[in-house]
Formats: sequence, C-alpha cells, structure tokens
Amino acid sequence: MLHRARIRFAPTVLFCYNSTMEKKADPSRVVILGGGAIGSVLAAALAQKPGQETVLVGRRDHVRAVNEAGLTVEGMFTGAVRLQASEAVDFPLEDVLLIVTVKAVDLEAALADVVPFLRPTTALLLLQNGHGIRKLALEALRGSPARPQSVFIGIVAMGVTFIAPGHVRCFGGNIRVEPAFAATPFFGLLQGLAVNVVESRDIRRDLWTKLLVNAVINPLSVLLQGHNRLVAAERFDPLKAPILAEGCAVAAAEGVALKIDPAFVNRFVTSDNITSMLQDFRRGRPTEIDFINGAIVKLGEKHGIPTPVNEFVTALIKALESLR
Ligand code: PAF
Repeated sequence: MLHRARIRFAPTVLFCYNSTMEKKADPSRVVILGGGAIGSVLAAALAQKPGQETVLVGRRDHVRAVNEAGLTVEGMFTGAVRLQASEAVDFPLEDVLLIVTVKAVDLEAALADVVPFLRPTTALLLLQNGHGIRKLALEALRGSPARPQSVFIGIVAMGVTFIAPGHVRCFGGNIRVEPAFAATPFFGLLQGLAVNVVESRDIRRDLWTKLLVNAVINPLSVLLQGHNRLVAAERFDPLKAPILAEGCAVAAAEGVALKIDPAFVNRFVTSDNITSMLQDFRRGRPTEIDFINGAIVKLGEKHGIPTPVNEFVTALIKALESLR
C-alpha cells in the first residue's frame, strides 16, 4: 500500500490575461519529485513561504516520517517544518511546477510514473547532476501532454546531506536556473525562499562548470571516503588536474571554453558535506558516475579526444559499486 498524502491543493485561481479572454492559472503549486536531500531542503523552504502549496514526493519511510513529525532541516530551520508528503503523484499536475530532484539514474523511471498526470500547463524543472539530462527527460516525456518548451534545467550548487527519514542537513549554496525558466511565472514561486534560486547568465557554461566540479569531487570522495573539505585539500590536486584537463578539452569541443583548475574546484567545495555520490555509494544505491565522468568519456569519443583518466575513474567507481 502506498502512503499518500491527502493532497489538499486549493482550486486553481483563474484570471483573464488577454483580450481573447483566454484563461491562465495563477501558478502557486509546486510538486517536488524526489525526496532526497535536495528535494527535501527545497520542499521545506517552499513550505515556509506563506500561501505556497507544496507536496514532496519521496520514499515510504521518509514520507511517513515527514507526514507524522515534519521535516527537520539542520542548518536552515529551527524545529521541524510541516509539509505534505506523498509516495506517488496521483493527482493531475494542472498549472503545477514539477521540480524533479531524483538522481539522474532514476530520472527516466520517475518521469514515466508521472506521465499520466502531466498536463500542457505543467512546467518541469530538472535539477540533476550530470550531462544530457534535458535530452533524457524529453525522450522519457515523448508523447506525453507536457510541452517540450516547458521542460527547464537548473543547477544545484548546494551542500546537502540526507541524515535519516524526516531529517536532512543543509550547508548552504544556491540553485541556478536557465533564463527561459526565469522568464516564466513559475520562477516567482522560487523567490524569497531560504534557498537562493537565481537566473544563470550562461547556462551552458554553468552546466559544464558544475559537471567538471562533480567529475573531480564526486568520484574522489568515494575513492578517498572523505567529506568535501578533505577532498578539496591541495595534496590531492595531482589527482584532480588530469580529470579536469580532459574535461576542459571535451567542453571546448562542445563549444564551451573553460579553464578550470584544481584550485577552482577546491574553492567550490569547502564544507564538511559529503558528496551525493558518496551518500549513494554508502547507501548501496547506483551512483551517477555514467552521467558525470562516463559522459565526458562518451563525448570525448564523439570528438576524437582521448579521456583515459576519466575512463579509469569511471571503471574504478563501477568496480567499487560491484563489490558492495
Ligand atoms: O553532488 C554533489 O554532492 C554536489 O553537486 C557538490 C556540489 C559536489 C557538493 O557536494
């Protein structure tokens, strides 16, 4: 039996917005698909906003804990935040902003589950690590009522940890969204939150920068079994430099000129947070390695750029995964 919230969205507020009397909903509803650390922090921040209707969709134990005792977000709110949580989407997503925070490896399946509830008025904001996320989502949504132009991408540059059901920790940071999303009325819903959501001035550059930071920090955190501040130590820079050199060459071939060195990466991750990859690894979940270093390898092949270090790192993480 699924543990579902009795979703209590108020009826859509309709208003006329042009001379043809076409009706448009006042967007006020957000559904967060993915009750991991990011999704939970975002849901709590939204739930604190007056008048905001938010539902967090996640795994059974987390949903149960949140519905029973609220969500504790260490580092952000004192006391548990009350919000609605559900194990599944089983209500129409009319005029809803669906923020998808499941891991890249779960994206296809999570979208397939919600397809029957999507509407032409649903906007989707994808917040995954890795390369090729929008393409993957558009393929999964092909033939669904959701409009491709309503599928947007964002980048999470936040340190967050899932501690236990009903309990996450936030180390700060921000979320950047592509300009096309910032131009929609849904962007307003994400303003004035405890989580800073800003418009990216160059989304491709930001996506590649984040990909290269993840390509270094995430696998090294698993290999070194250490938190971000440890991985950011200069003594590990010789391990980081070749991953970045290959990544920058591939980014350039993709039309994004970047100069990212280990010092840049070290400044990016300074907290005692552990990476999402190490969290997945320790919980026995598949990691996002194929979407990060594995994607650099694939793109390298496409452009004829050798990426032996990223290939080796990908193989090492997969080997470790196979031993768990
Ligand atoms: O995947 C992660 O953990 C995050 O993207 C980051 C920025 C590396 C922080 O831990």
